[in-house]
Amino acid sequence: MALLEIKTAGDPVLKKVCEPVQKIDKRLRNFLDDMYDTMIAKEGIGIAAPQVGESIRAVIVDVDRNDRKGRYDMINPVITFREGSVVDNEGCLSCPDLFGDVERAEKIRVEYISRFNKKKTLEAEGLLARCIQHELDHLDGKLFIDIAQNITRGKKNSEK
Ligand code: CO
Repeated sequence: MALLEIKTAGDPVLKKVCEPVQKIDKRLRNFLDDMYDTMIAKEGIGIAAPQVGESIRAVIVDVDRNDRKGRYDMINPVITFREGSVVDNEGCLSCPDLFGDVERAEKIRVEYISRFNKKKTLEAEGLLARCIQHELDHLDGKLFIDIAQNITRGKKNSEK
């Protein structure tokens, strides 16, 4: 296990469109495990490869804060269906202490390759759908603060 350095807003790697992953091997799986450990250490629910300096299309989400059994490693993910719209408050490991309201699709379908090179389809809603959309934006060089409303510093709007 190794903890990786989180890149923060202003680092050019967060503005790049990431390249597709070409090779799914032990080295990539080790990197994904390091990403996951870094995310847990920072109490995040999602992380994208560019946030730790690798400009490749890989994200991990795990919105279950209690037992950490909801881990999804997504390689070359693509959202193929979106439905509805909902606004909620978000934060980001790359934007410490900032929170803001972001409109996202309520339900999505995402297709991706697993860490063991299997094609997967996941239908998601609620926080999981929000988190996936947030992480996939990172792969296209987008930060939530670029699209958020009512940005606040220090605490979530809902905790005001
Ligand atoms: Co983020």
